Amino acid sequence: MPTFYLNPRASHAPYPPELQHILNIGAAAESRAWLKHWDRINMQGTPLRELPGLAARLGMKNIVIKDESLRSQVGSFKALGAPIALVRLLLRLMPEKRLNIDALFMGSYRELLQDITVISATDGNHGRALAAAAQSVGCPCVIVLHGGVSSERENAIADYGAKIIRIGGNYDESVEEAARLASENRWYVVSDTSYEGYEDIPRDVMQGYAIIGAEVIEQCLCRQETPAFSHVILQGGVGGFAAGVASFLWQYHGKHRPQLIVVEPREADCLYQSGIAGQPAKATGAVDSLMAGLACGECSPLAWKILQPCIDAFLVIEDEAAVRAMQVLAAGRDQDIPIIAGESGAAGLAGLQTLLADEQLKKKARLDHNAHVLLINTEGATSPSIYHQLVGENALSVKVRQDCWQNRRVK
Ligand SMILES: Cc1ncc(COP(=O)(O)O)c(C=O)c1O
Repeated sequence: MPTFYLNPRASHAPYPPELQHILNIGAAAESRAWLKHWDRINMQGTPLRELPGLAARLGMKNIVIKDESLRSQVGSFKALGAPIALVRLLLRLMPEKRLNIDALFMGSYRELLQDITVISATDGNHGRALAAAAQSVGCPCVIVLHGGVSSERENAIADYGAKIIRIGGNYDESVEEAARLASENRWYVVSDTSYEGYEDIPRDVMQGYAIIGAEVIEQCLCRQETPAFSHVILQGGVGGFAAGVASFLWQYHGKHRPQLIVVEPREADCLYQSGIAGQPAKATGAVDSLMAGLACGECSPLAWKILQPCIDAFLVIEDEAAVRAMQVLAAGRDQDIPIIAGESGAAGLAGLQTLLADEQLKKKARLDHNAHVLLINTEGATSPSIYHQLVGENALSVKVRQDCWQNRRVK
């Protein structure tokens, strides 16, 4: 039984000035300009793919997916957050050095930074992005992993030279352990989630994610009063991704903003619970999900400040729905492009399918035949063997079909 909550606190007024102090379009533009200097990222913009075959099957006007699996070699949108937070941290730590961002990403300050160790807990993707960014600039990096993170994801992080520490608990416990190790060793936590007294860095991470919103608006040539989408479905872990993208769209479109829906795994429903409580709340489940990136038991209080007033509805989905969505995207039926979406990446489509399978929810979410839906594929096959097992085809083979599809288009 799907669980859906229409948020009575959602506002369609213009973006409030008090939220501009947290996230704003100007800072997103600055982050975007800086990231252009990082050679591990695709700053041409990730593709926005129309899926007309799927839209026709689901009875929607249009379904479009922004493919963040192609953002960078780290395989997910997280490559937009950690490097920006790291840069802003270093700028704050040594303002007198007047660090040049281009030189920083090229590793020219390696000697200066060799004693600045950064640390974070991760479900996989944030840690991988932080490790890659730290390696580029020359900071030592320590990543804390909980028991649910696959060894493939661990190896992918270690490949960027990070030291790995494994703990037995879940994601939230790994966040606590990272904070403890940092204070013991005088390391710097670069976390994607906020907690009391720790907000600057998670804010910078979210600001990096807002770049996705900026690209969408440019790619659709959207005018402020006419958004290209009626609905945007956003995955929720601690809430930083949803807050970063939603804040940009809200600030740009103001009272014309699209409906914003957050989707989470059944066992890690902290944003859904926060929606009901009207304040940050803990998940009620076991904080365990195939959607590893979304398996978070506590929302980021800073992200919640943005989400509470703008998310129109919270939806909880089952793991099986994500698996079906991965398969649908990989198949590319009815002339649609095949897309490689990992377990968390496919959750947006899983949410849409869950809503459409229930007439009442479909109505509540105002998903009719005029709906233009934006989904974001937040990761590719970040754990290739899990992807193969769940989709029944390996990611390389899907990529070959994707390339064939594109070559046919070019001819
Ligand atoms: C692939 C993927 N999608 C979505 C999310 C959710 O992001 P957040 O935790 O900022 O809500 C994550 C988080 O790790 C992720 O890895």
